[in-house]
Amino acid sequence: MPANLPVPLRDRLGRPLESLRLSVTDRCNLRCLYCMPEEDYVWLPRQELLSFEELVRLVDIFTELGVTRLRLTGGEPLLRHNVDRLVAMLTQNPRIMDLAMTTNGVLFAEQAETLKRAGLGRVTISLDTLQRERFRLMTRRDEHDRVLSAFGAARRAGFKGTKLDAVVMRGENDGELADLIEFGHKNDVEVRFIEYMDVLGATKWSMAKVVSRDEMLQRLEERYGKIRPAAETSSAPASRFLLPDGTVFGIIASTTSPFCRTCDRSRITADGVWYRCLYATNGTDLRKLLRGTAATANASRGAAKSDSDIASVIAEAWREREDRGAEERASRNHREAFIGIEELRRDPHLEMHTRGG
Ligand code: GTP
Ligand code: 5AD
Ligand code: SF4
Repeated sequence: MPANLPVPLRDRLGRPLESLRLSVTDRCNLRCLYCMPEEDYVWLPRQELLSFEELVRLVDIFTELGVTRLRLTGGEPLLRHNVDRLVAMLTQNPRIMDLAMTTNGVLFAEQAETLKRAGLGRVTISLDTLQRERFRLMTRRDEHDRVLSAFGAARRAGFKGTKLDAVVMRGENDGELADLIEFGHKNDVEVRFIEYMDVLGATKWSMAKVVSRDEMLQRLEERYGKIRPAAETSSAPASRFLLPDGTVFGIIASTTSPFCRTCDRSRITADGVWYRCLYATNGTDLRKLLRGTAATANASRGAAKSDSDIASVIAEAWREREDRGAEERASRNHREAFIGIEELRRDPHLEMHTRGG
C-alpha cells in the first residue's frame, strides 16, 4: 500500500472500513413489495437532510479513515435535486476509487449523460420483471418503460460494468430468471438475483416467499445445463456463476448464506445517521456532531465538532463493531418480519428505503 494511504481500520472481527453507502434521500417514486409494501410512510423532515457540503465533508472524513468505495443510494437517489452536482463534488476526493449509484432506473435515462459527465463511475439498476403488468403489481407504479430505457441510456452514456439487480420473490417473478439473464446478455449488463431479505421495512416477508440461491441454481441448470462458479474478483456480496455459454450472473444470498464475515460496508442515512449493519437498530448521529443539533427528535443541542473529533468517534465505533445482523437472522429457527409496523412508524431510520438497500 502506498505510504500516503491510510491503513484500513479494523473492527472486532478484523473487517476493514472500506465501503460506504450514502443515502441522499429517503423518498422513492416506486413502492416495491419487498421494500415499501405499506400504504403510508413517515418521511425524514426535509430540513434535516444533510446538505451536499455536509455529505462531502463526511465522505472526506471517512476516506481519511480508509474508505475507498462509495455508493450513492436512496430511497431513489435521483429524486435528490441536482445529485449530479454532488457527484461532481465527490470526484474531487482522490481517495475514492469507485464511485457508484444504485437506482431504480425511473429517472435514469434522462440524467445518464449528465451523471456520466459529472464523473459517476458505475451504476446498478434495479429491475425485477420484464412484464409490464407484473412490474405495476410489484412496484405499484406504472413506470416499466422508463426503467427499461435506463439500460440503453447507461450504455449510450458510456457506463461500463452496469449491473441489473432483481429481488426474487416466490409467486411473483421467480418464473423470469432465464428471461432476466437473456435481457442482461442483450443489454450487456451483469444480472444479479437477490434473495428476498427479512430486513427492516419488509413487513410482508415470509420464508415461504424466499427463493434460495440453491433453488435458483437448480432451476437455471434445468434450463441451461451445468453452471460453474466464476472466480471471485471482489468483495461484492454476490457469488458469481457462469452458464455453459460463458454468460456471467450473480446471486446475493443474504438470507440463506449471509456474507457478514467479510462485510466491509456501512451506511449513512440522508439525515446523517451512520449504521454499521443493514440490520442494526442503533446508529451514530453524525449530523449532531456536524451541526450541534441532533437528527433524532428531543435530543439536546451540543457543540459542533471538528473533523478530527468526528473521525475519532467513527474510528472508535468501527473498532467496537461486531455486528453480524444477517447471520444472526439466519441462525434463528423461526423467522418472520424483523420489525413491526408500529416501530417503523416511530423511527423511519429502521426502514430499508431510509437505510439505502
Ligand atoms: P458492488 O459490489 O459495488 O457492485 O455493490 P453492491 O453489490 O454492494 O451493490 P448493490 O447496491 O447493488 O447491493 C446489492 C444488494 O445487496 C442490495 O440491494 C441489498 O439487497 C444487498 N445488500 C447490500 N448491502 C448489504 C449488507 O450490508 N448486508 C446484506 N445482508 N445485504 C446487503
Ligand atoms: N430483500 C432484498 N433486497 C431488498 N432491497 C430492498 N428491500 C429488499 C429486501 N427485502 C434491495 C433491492 C433494491 C435495493 C435498492 O434494495 O436490491 O434493488
Ligand atoms: Fe423499490 Fe428501491 Fe424504492 Fe425500495 S427504495 S421501493 S427497493 S425502488
